[in-house]
Amino acid sequence: MAMGAGSKQPRSLAVCWYAARHRSFTLIVWCLTALIVLVIFYLFINHKEEQIVRGIDEVEEETFPVKLARSWRNPPAVRGKGEHRTLPVVDEFLVESSAVHHTFFQKGKVAMDPVNSGNDRRYLYYPGRVWLDTDGKPIQAHGGGVMYDEETKTYFWYGENKDGKTYKAHDKGPDRVDIVGVSCYSSTDLWSWTNEGVVLHGEEENLSHDLHKSNVLERPKVIYNNRTGKYVMWMHIDDANYTKSSIGVATSASPTGPFTYLYSKRPHNCESRDMTIFKDDDGKAYLIYSSKGNSELHIARLTDDYLNVPKDVPRILVARYREAPALFKFGGTYYMITSGCTGWAPNTANAHAAASIMGPWETLGNPFLGGNEIYRSTTFFSQGTFVLPVAGLPGLFIFMADRWKPSDLRDSRYVWLPLRVGGLPDEAADYSFMFPLWSRVSIYWHKVWRLPKQSYRAT
Ligand SMILES: *[C@@H]1O[C@H](CO)[C@@H](O)[C@H](O)[C@H]1NC(C)=O
Ligand SMILES: *[C@@H]1O[C@H](CO)[C@@H](O)[C@H](O)[C@H]1NC(C)=O
Ligand SMILES: *[C@@H]1O[C@H](CO)[C@@H](O)[C@H](O)[C@H]1NC(C)=O
Repeated sequence: MAMGAGSKQPRSLAVCWYAARHRSFTLIVWCLTALIVLVIFYLFINHKEEQIVRGIDEVEEETFPVKLARSWRNPPAVRGKGEHRTLPVVDEFLVESSAVHHTFFQKGKVAMDPVNSGNDRRYLYYPGRVWLDTDGKPIQAHGGGVMYDEETKTYFWYGENKDGKTYKAHDKGPDRVDIVGVSCYSSTDLWSWTNEGVVLHGEEENLSHDLHKSNVLERPKVIYNNRTGKYVMWMHIDDANYTKSSIGVATSASPTGPFTYLYSKRPHNCESRDMTIFKDDDGKAYLIYSSKGNSELHIARLTDDYLNVPKDVPRILVARYREAPALFKFGGTYYMITSGCTGWAPNTANAHAAASIMGPWETLGNPFLGGNEIYRSTTFFSQGTFVLPVAGLPGLFIFMADRWKPSDLRDSRYVWLPLRVGGLPDEAADYSFMFPLWSRVSIYWHKVWRLPKQSYRAT
């Protein structure tokens, strides 16, 4: 028995082993088949989504839409003669009667319209075309920035309301519009925006008030202070000749205002023109502004209530003549996009990076890809104002810019384009063990594009 059992056991074990092996082989085959079916099914249901995400990575090349005179065909020869020079094509762009101007500000080509766009045109961004709000009116939020409110999962877009007549205060003065105020728009999908009204009004009567309509209010930005529960707005405050060059501060208990104007001053007793504020992950916030005749940028931490700046200030990007700073953070590194200084005329943008927000800041070169040489050397005929992190999609940003129209500033357009960080930079100044310390910042030109579907409802 014992022997029999003993001799039987190995055989049945072997049979079992064989059967098990056979079974597991069959099982593996079935598993693989099921897996393949699942993958195909997954790819099938995700096909549309995939396409949209891929669409973002495509670089759209484009020939210049109008025929250029002979002397305009060689922009690189013109560039490099100094930061302050504009390209002849840019001079032409600024002349209202020119073909170039007409191409970029075509009448009646309404494209971004949340009320009348069918499903096929919904969520499509056409950079530079008229953008209507949910009342069917052109959005008035120039030189703006977007604040994301985590609690209500809502984006708030603040910007200059320039819905007034463009004129010159005197012969040599720049084109201007009287202060109307700061507009606020809200959205959960970053595409259809509801007008929340003017949340900080210009002053009609009181001539000595900073916000008197004859003055200048530019580039308003809003951040939320967790400690005080207040929404804090910083902006550039100036007189019509840009000699006051100060910052202004306002607060509100609600993102949709009304904001109470507090004061203006020159931070650190320095001139302050183009500026932005940036709120870091740790709740610390910073002011970045162009100073010393726009020749350098200054950066300073805001006090804990976000209402002021302490005394000492690091100067960064000295003698570089950069303005329109837009700051963002990715993977623990700080990045900034700046423009050159040529008034309303578009010029070449630069990307910069730093391990610490207080610097040192390195210049990485022109972030623009696609389009053509003229587009890339003019920020696609626009000037940056903000870099917006898309909520719930780390690593995806929107570069927000203004295509200024000095002949009629209220009709200035918005140029929103996808921004990515990755790859090797064009001009890496710093290397660590032969590897550049920074990644490339890339802003791709697209005539039309859209965000991945996951971002339509802010999550
Ligand atoms: C006008 O504005 C100034 C500066 O904000 C203020 O001090 C003054 O009280 C205002 N005058 C009136 C009449 O409101
Ligand atoms: C601006 O400059 C013009 C011409 O130089 C001058 O007439 C005017 O008074 C100045 N305005 C202000 C507000 O400084
Ligand atoms: C501030 O509050 C928001 C929600 O209101 C929260 O998501 C965020 O983590 C807070 N940040 C800090 C630094 O406490």
